[in-house]
Amino acid sequence: MRVLLTGGAGYIGAHTAIALVEAGHEVLIADDMSGTSPEAVRRIERLTGGAVPTLAADLRDESALREFVREHAPVHAVVHLAGLKAVGESMAEPVRYYDVNLGTTITLLKVMASEGIRTLVFSSSATVYGTPDELPLTEQSPTGIDLANPYGKTKRIIEEILSDAAAADPELRAVSLRYFNPVGAHPSGLIGEDPHGIPNNLMPFVSRVAIGSLPSVSVFGDDYDTPDGTGLRDYIHVTDLAAGHVAALEQAEPGYDVFNLGTGEPVSVLELIAAFERASGREIPRQIAPRRPGDVAASYADPSKAGEKLGWRTTLTIEEACRDYWNWQSNNPKGYAGA
Ligand code: UFG
Repeated sequence: MRVLLTGGAGYIGAHTAIALVEAGHEVLIADDMSGTSPEAVRRIERLTGGAVPTLAADLRDESALREFVREHAPVHAVVHLAGLKAVGESMAEPVRYYDVNLGTTITLLKVMASEGIRTLVFSSSATVYGTPDELPLTEQSPTGIDLANPYGKTKRIIEEILSDAAAADPELRAVSLRYFNPVGAHPSGLIGEDPHGIPNNLMPFVSRVAIGSLPSVSVFGDDYDTPDGTGLRDYIHVTDLAAGHVAALEQAEPGYDVFNLGTGEPVSVLELIAAFERASGREIPRQIAPRRPGDVAASYADPSKAGEKLGWRTTLTIEEACRDYWNWQSNNPKGYAGA
Protein backbone atom coordinates (compact mmCIF):
# COMPACT_ATOMS: atom_id res chain seq x y z
CA MET A 1 0.00 0.00 0.00
CA ARG A 2 1.02 3.60 -0.45
CA VAL A 3 0.52 5.13 2.99
CA LEU A 4 0.30 8.77 4.05
CA LEU A 5 1.91 8.98 7.49
CA THR A 6 1.05 12.20 9.31
CA GLY A 7 3.49 13.08 12.09
CA GLY A 8 5.89 10.72 10.34
CA ALA A 9 9.00 12.65 11.41
CA GLY A 10 8.14 12.38 15.11
CA TYR A 11 9.24 9.78 17.65
CA ILE A 12 6.57 7.16 16.98
CA GLY A 13 6.16 8.27 13.35
CA ALA A 14 9.79 7.68 12.40
CA HIS A 15 9.72 4.15 13.81
CA THR A 16 6.39 3.50 12.09
CA ALA A 17 7.78 4.76 8.77
CA ILE A 18 10.61 2.25 8.99
CA ALA A 19 8.26 -0.59 9.98
CA LEU A 20 5.93 0.19 7.07
CA VAL A 21 8.75 0.22 4.52
CA GLU A 22 10.18 -3.02 5.96
CA ALA A 23 6.72 -4.59 5.55
CA GLY A 24 6.75 -3.67 1.85
CA HIS A 25 4.68 -0.48 1.91
CA GLU A 26 5.48 2.90 0.38
CA VAL A 27 5.49 5.85 2.76
CA LEU A 28 4.71 9.54 2.30
CA ILE A 29 5.25 11.81 5.28
CA ALA A 30 3.27 14.90 6.19
CA ASP A 31 4.57 16.72 9.26
CA ASP A 32 4.80 20.38 10.27
CA MET A 33 8.18 19.57 11.91
CA SER A 34 7.18 21.56 15.02
CA GLY A 35 8.06 18.73 17.39
CA THR A 36 10.91 17.21 15.42
CA SER A 37 13.58 17.89 12.81
CA PRO A 38 14.00 17.26 9.07
CA GLU A 39 17.07 15.24 10.12
CA ALA A 40 14.65 12.53 11.26
CA VAL A 41 13.43 12.13 7.67
CA ARG A 42 17.01 11.95 6.37
CA ARG A 43 17.70 9.14 8.84
CA ILE A 44 14.52 7.28 7.89
CA GLU A 45 15.72 7.49 4.28
CA ARG A 46 19.16 6.24 5.31
CA LEU A 47 17.71 3.27 7.18
CA THR A 48 15.19 2.36 4.49
CA GLY A 49 17.50 3.05 1.55
CA GLY A 50 15.02 5.14 -0.41
CA ALA A 51 13.57 8.61 -0.76
CA VAL A 52 10.53 9.41 1.36
CA PRO A 53 8.41 12.19 -0.18
CA THR A 54 7.69 14.69 2.60
CA LEU A 55 5.24 17.55 2.98
CA ALA A 56 6.47 19.98 5.63
CA ALA A 57 3.30 21.96 6.30
CA ASP A 58 0.59 22.64 8.83
CA LEU A 59 -1.89 19.84 8.17
CA ARG A 60 -4.85 22.15 8.72
CA ASP A 61 -3.86 23.60 5.33
CA GLU A 62 -6.41 21.60 3.35
CA SER A 63 -5.27 22.64 -0.13
CA ALA A 64 -1.59 21.86 0.60
CA LEU A 65 -2.53 18.43 1.93
CA ARG A 66 -4.85 17.67 -0.99
CA GLU A 67 -2.23 18.77 -3.52
CA PHE A 68 0.38 16.51 -1.88
CA VAL A 69 -1.99 13.52 -1.92
CA ARG A 70 -2.89 14.15 -5.57
CA GLU A 71 0.75 14.49 -6.56
CA HIS A 72 1.38 11.01 -5.13
CA ALA A 73 -1.89 9.33 -6.12
CA PRO A 74 -3.01 6.66 -5.56
CA VAL A 75 -2.69 6.89 -1.77
CA HIS A 76 -4.36 3.81 -0.27
CA ALA A 77 -4.38 4.53 3.45
CA VAL A 78 -3.51 7.04 6.16
CA VAL A 79 -1.74 6.51 9.46
CA HIS A 80 -2.52 9.63 11.46
CA LEU A 81 -0.06 10.44 14.25
CA ALA A 82 0.26 14.23 13.88
CA GLY A 83 -0.76 16.20 16.94
CA LEU A 84 0.28 17.97 20.10
CA LYS A 85 0.93 15.60 22.99
CA ALA A 86 2.02 17.28 26.23
CA VAL A 87 -0.53 16.87 29.01
CA GLY A 88 0.62 19.87 31.09
CA GLU A 89 0.91 22.17 28.08
CA SER A 90 -2.63 21.20 27.05
CA MET A 91 -3.93 22.48 30.38
CA ALA A 92 -2.16 25.82 29.88
CA GLU A 93 -3.15 26.16 26.20
CA PRO A 94 -6.41 24.20 25.74
CA VAL A 95 -7.66 26.10 22.72
CA ARG A 96 -4.45 25.49 20.80
CA TYR A 97 -4.74 21.76 21.58
CA TYR A 98 -8.34 21.57 20.36
CA ASP A 99 -7.47 23.65 17.31
CA VAL A 100 -4.43 21.63 16.22
CA ASN A 101 -5.52 18.10 17.15
CA LEU A 102 -9.14 18.34 16.02
CA GLY A 103 -8.45 20.70 13.10
CA THR A 104 -5.77 18.42 11.69
CA THR A 105 -8.02 15.38 11.92
CA ILE A 106 -11.06 17.05 10.35
CA THR A 107 -8.95 18.40 7.47
CA LEU A 108 -7.47 14.96 6.93
CA LEU A 109 -10.91 13.31 6.87
CA LYS A 110 -12.11 15.83 4.29
CA VAL A 111 -9.09 15.18 2.07
CA MET A 112 -9.50 11.41 2.48
CA ALA A 113 -13.16 11.69 1.42
CA SER A 114 -12.45 13.83 -1.62
CA GLU A 115 -9.52 11.64 -2.73
CA GLY A 116 -11.26 8.30 -2.17
CA ILE A 117 -9.01 7.08 0.68
CA ARG A 118 -10.97 4.69 2.90
CA THR A 119 -8.50 3.33 5.48
CA LEU A 120 -7.29 5.22 8.56
CA VAL A 121 -5.22 4.19 11.58
CA PHE A 122 -5.22 6.78 14.38
CA SER A 123 -2.85 7.29 17.32
CA SER A 124 -5.04 7.41 20.37
CA SER A 125 -3.83 7.02 23.93
CA ALA A 126 -4.50 5.05 27.08
CA THR A 127 -5.11 8.46 28.59
CA VAL A 128 -8.70 8.22 27.22
CA TYR A 129 -9.48 5.85 30.11
CA GLY A 130 -8.84 8.62 32.64
CA THR A 131 -8.63 7.14 36.15
CA PRO A 132 -8.95 3.37 35.73
CA ASP A 133 -11.69 1.71 37.76
CA GLU A 134 -10.35 -1.76 36.89
CA LEU A 135 -6.98 -3.16 35.85
CA PRO A 136 -5.75 -4.28 33.46
CA LEU A 137 -7.56 -1.94 31.09
CA THR A 138 -9.49 -3.58 28.27
CA GLU A 139 -10.99 -1.82 25.28
CA GLN A 140 -14.36 -2.19 27.05
CA SER A 141 -13.17 -0.33 30.14
CA PRO A 142 -15.03 2.95 30.56
CA THR A 143 -13.34 5.98 29.05
CA GLY A 144 -13.23 9.53 30.30
CA ILE A 145 -13.41 8.92 34.08
CA ASP A 146 -12.01 12.11 35.65
CA LEU A 147 -10.31 12.90 32.35
CA ALA A 148 -9.20 16.41 33.20
CA ASN A 149 -6.67 17.34 30.52
CA PRO A 150 -7.52 18.74 27.10
CA TYR A 151 -4.89 16.56 25.39
CA GLY A 152 -6.68 13.40 26.50
CA LYS A 153 -10.04 14.90 25.61
CA THR A 154 -8.87 15.58 22.04
CA LYS A 155 -7.95 11.88 21.70
CA ARG A 156 -11.34 10.85 23.06
CA ILE A 157 -13.24 13.28 20.80
CA ILE A 158 -11.31 12.11 17.73
CA GLU A 159 -12.20 8.49 18.57
CA GLU A 160 -15.88 9.57 18.59
CA ILE A 161 -15.49 11.39 15.27
CA LEU A 162 -13.96 8.29 13.64
CA SER A 163 -16.65 6.04 15.03
CA ASP A 164 -19.36 8.37 13.65
CA ALA A 165 -17.60 8.68 10.27
CA ALA A 166 -17.35 4.88 9.97
CA ALA A 167 -21.02 4.46 10.90
CA ALA A 168 -21.96 6.81 8.06
CA ASP A 169 -19.68 5.30 5.41
CA PRO A 170 -19.79 1.50 5.06
CA GLU A 171 -16.53 1.49 3.11
CA LEU A 172 -14.51 3.34 5.74
CA ARG A 173 -12.04 1.28 7.77
CA ALA A 174 -11.01 3.24 10.86
CA VAL A 175 -8.90 1.96 13.75
CA SER A 176 -7.83 3.74 16.93
CA LEU A 177 -4.72 2.47 18.70
CA ARG A 178 -4.60 3.28 22.40
CA TYR A 179 -0.91 3.51 23.22
CA PHE A 180 0.32 2.92 26.72
CA ASN A 181 3.79 4.42 27.47
CA PRO A 182 6.10 4.37 24.42
CA VAL A 183 9.81 4.04 25.26
CA GLY A 184 13.01 2.76 23.65
CA ALA A 185 14.49 3.65 20.29
CA HIS A 186 15.49 2.09 16.99
CA PRO A 187 18.26 -0.49 17.58
CA SER A 188 20.47 1.31 15.03
CA GLY A 189 20.83 4.28 17.39
CA LEU A 190 19.92 6.60 14.50
CA ILE A 191 16.27 7.26 15.37
CA GLY A 192 14.86 8.08 18.76
CA GLU A 193 12.91 10.47 20.92
CA ASP A 194 14.09 14.07 20.78
CA PRO A 195 12.04 16.17 23.20
CA HIS A 196 12.62 19.91 23.08
CA GLY A 197 13.56 21.43 26.44
CA ILE A 198 13.19 19.54 29.70
CA PRO A 199 11.38 16.24 29.11
CA ASN A 200 8.00 15.63 30.77
CA ASN A 201 8.08 11.85 30.54
CA LEU A 202 10.02 9.47 32.70
CA MET A 203 12.41 7.63 30.37
CA PRO A 204 13.62 10.71 28.45
CA PHE A 205 14.15 12.48 31.76
CA VAL A 206 16.08 9.57 33.27
CA SER A 207 18.15 9.32 30.13
CA ARG A 208 19.11 13.02 30.34
CA VAL A 209 20.20 12.43 33.92
CA ALA A 210 22.29 9.45 32.81
CA ILE A 211 23.99 11.51 30.08
CA GLY A 212 24.70 14.27 32.62
CA SER A 213 22.58 17.09 31.18
CA LEU A 214 20.15 17.01 34.13
CA PRO A 215 21.29 16.50 37.74
CA SER A 216 18.65 14.14 39.14
CA VAL A 217 15.16 12.78 38.62
CA SER A 218 12.20 13.49 40.90
CA VAL A 219 10.10 10.44 41.69
CA PHE A 220 6.56 11.84 41.75
CA GLY A 221 5.14 10.12 44.82
CA ASP A 222 6.15 7.02 46.77
CA ASP A 223 2.92 6.63 48.71
CA TYR A 224 0.68 5.14 46.01
CA ASP A 225 -1.11 1.87 46.68
CA THR A 226 1.42 -0.08 44.57
CA PRO A 227 4.09 -2.65 45.55
CA ASP A 228 6.90 -0.09 46.02
CA GLY A 229 4.66 2.99 46.42
CA THR A 230 5.61 4.52 43.04
CA GLY A 231 3.42 4.75 39.94
CA LEU A 232 2.91 1.71 37.72
CA ARG A 233 2.85 2.06 33.93
CA ASP A 234 2.94 -0.20 30.89
CA TYR A 235 6.11 0.76 28.98
CA ILE A 236 6.02 -0.47 25.38
CA HIS A 237 9.07 -0.50 23.13
CA VAL A 238 8.51 1.91 20.25
CA THR A 239 9.46 -0.71 17.62
CA ASP A 240 6.77 -3.04 19.02
CA LEU A 241 4.37 -0.10 18.89
CA ALA A 242 5.36 0.61 15.27
CA ALA A 243 4.67 -3.03 14.36
CA GLY A 244 1.19 -2.61 15.86
CA HIS A 245 0.44 0.10 13.30
CA VAL A 246 1.44 -2.15 10.42
CA ALA A 247 -0.77 -4.98 11.74
CA ALA A 248 -3.74 -2.63 12.26
CA LEU A 249 -3.34 -1.13 8.81
CA GLU A 250 -3.06 -4.45 6.98
CA GLN A 251 -5.99 -6.00 8.81
CA ALA A 252 -8.36 -3.05 9.13
CA GLU A 253 -11.94 -4.13 8.44
CA PRO A 254 -14.86 -1.97 7.31
CA GLY A 255 -16.23 -0.12 10.33
CA TYR A 256 -14.54 1.24 13.42
CA ASP A 257 -12.37 -0.68 15.86
CA VAL A 258 -10.06 0.10 18.76
CA PHE A 259 -7.05 -1.73 20.20
CA ASN A 260 -4.86 -1.34 23.27
CA LEU A 261 -1.16 -1.41 22.42
CA GLY A 262 0.74 -2.30 25.56
CA THR A 263 2.73 -5.14 27.06
CA GLY A 264 0.34 -5.97 29.90
CA GLU A 265 3.31 -5.80 32.34
CA PRO A 266 3.22 -3.07 34.99
CA VAL A 267 6.60 -1.49 35.81
CA SER A 268 7.15 0.99 38.66
CA VAL A 269 9.08 4.26 38.49
CA LEU A 270 11.82 2.82 40.71
CA GLU A 271 12.02 -0.35 38.58
CA LEU A 272 12.41 1.72 35.43
CA ILE A 273 15.19 3.80 37.00
CA ALA A 274 16.97 0.61 38.12
CA ALA A 275 16.66 -0.91 34.63
CA PHE A 276 18.10 2.26 33.08
CA GLU A 277 21.02 2.19 35.52
CA ARG A 278 21.82 -1.37 34.44
CA ALA A 279 21.51 -0.51 30.74
CA SER A 280 23.64 2.64 30.92
CA GLY A 281 26.10 1.55 33.59
CA ARG A 282 25.53 4.97 35.20
CA GLU A 283 24.11 5.85 38.55
CA ILE A 284 20.87 7.85 38.33
CA PRO A 285 20.46 10.22 41.31
CA ARG A 286 16.81 10.54 42.34
CA GLN A 287 14.75 12.11 45.10
CA ILE A 288 11.20 11.50 46.24
CA ALA A 289 8.94 14.42 45.36
CA PRO A 290 5.21 15.10 45.81
CA ARG A 291 2.73 13.37 43.50
CA ARG A 292 2.29 15.08 40.14
CA PRO A 293 -1.25 16.48 39.80
CA GLY A 294 -3.38 14.43 37.42
CA ASP A 295 -1.26 11.25 37.66
CA VAL A 296 -2.97 7.93 38.27
CA ALA A 297 -1.44 5.27 40.55
CA ALA A 298 -1.46 2.56 37.92
CA SER A 299 -2.26 2.12 34.24
CA TYR A 300 -1.57 -1.03 32.25
CA ALA A 301 -3.14 -2.86 29.36
CA ASP A 302 -4.86 -6.07 28.66
CA PRO A 303 -3.42 -6.35 25.12
CA SER A 304 -5.18 -9.64 24.29
CA LYS A 305 -7.62 -8.17 21.74
CA ALA A 306 -4.74 -7.06 19.48
CA GLY A 307 -3.19 -10.50 19.95
CA GLU A 308 -6.36 -12.32 18.94
CA LYS A 309 -7.59 -10.07 16.11
CA LEU A 310 -4.34 -8.72 14.68
CA GLY A 311 -1.87 -11.45 15.65
CA TRP A 312 0.23 -8.70 17.22
CA ARG A 313 2.11 -8.98 20.49
CA THR A 314 5.06 -7.25 22.06
CA THR A 315 8.46 -8.92 21.80
CA LEU A 316 10.77 -6.54 23.68
CA THR A 317 11.29 -6.00 27.41
CA ILE A 318 11.88 -2.90 29.52
CA GLU A 319 15.58 -3.91 29.67
CA GLU A 320 15.78 -3.81 25.86
CA ALA A 321 13.92 -0.51 25.78
CA CYS A 322 16.45 1.02 28.22
CA ARG A 323 19.37 -0.41 26.23
CA ASP A 324 18.06 1.02 22.94
CA TYR A 325 17.12 4.38 24.47
CA TRP A 326 20.59 4.67 25.97
CA ASN A 327 22.22 3.67 22.69
CA TRP A 328 20.31 6.47 20.92
CA GLN A 329 20.99 9.00 23.72
CA SER A 330 24.71 8.27 23.96
CA ASN A 331 25.18 8.36 20.17
CA ASN A 332 23.13 11.57 19.89
CA PRO A 333 23.62 13.53 23.13
CA LYS A 334 21.97 16.58 21.55
CA GLY A 335 19.33 14.60 19.63
CA TYR A 336 18.94 15.38 15.93
CA ALA A 337 20.33 18.89 16.51
CA GLY A 338 23.80 17.42 17.02
CA ALA A 339 23.83 15.90 13.50
N1 UFG B 1 7.40 10.28 36.63
C1 UFG B 1 8.28 10.61 37.65
N2 UFG B 1 9.21 11.58 37.40
C2 UFG B 1 9.29 12.23 36.19
C3 UFG B 1 8.38 11.88 35.17
C4 UFG B 1 7.44 10.91 35.42
O1 UFG B 1 8.23 10.04 38.74
O2 UFG B 1 10.15 13.10 36.05
C5 UFG B 1 6.43 9.20 36.86
C6 UFG B 1 4.99 9.61 36.76
O3 UFG B 1 4.51 10.09 37.99
C7 UFG B 1 4.33 8.30 36.32
C8 UFG B 1 5.41 7.62 35.47
O4 UFG B 1 6.63 8.23 35.86
O5 UFG B 1 4.09 7.48 37.44
C9 UFG B 1 5.22 7.82 33.97
O6 UFG B 1 5.09 9.20 33.68
P1 UFG B 1 5.20 9.74 32.19
O7 UFG B 1 5.11 11.24 32.25
O8 UFG B 1 6.37 9.16 31.51
O9 UFG B 1 3.92 9.12 31.48
P2 UFG B 1 2.37 9.25 31.83
O10 UFG B 1 1.89 7.87 32.16
O11 UFG B 1 2.08 10.32 32.79
O12 UFG B 1 1.79 9.78 30.45
C10 UFG B 1 1.95 9.03 29.28
C11 UFG B 1 2.03 9.96 28.08
C12 UFG B 1 0.75 10.66 27.87
C13 UFG B 1 -0.36 9.72 27.83
C14 UFG B 1 -0.37 8.80 29.00
C15 UFG B 1 -1.38 7.71 28.83
O13 UFG B 1 3.04 10.91 28.27
O14 UFG B 1 0.82 11.35 26.64
O15 UFG B 1 0.88 8.18 29.14
O16 UFG B 1 -1.60 7.03 30.01
F1 UFG B 1 -1.53 10.38 27.80
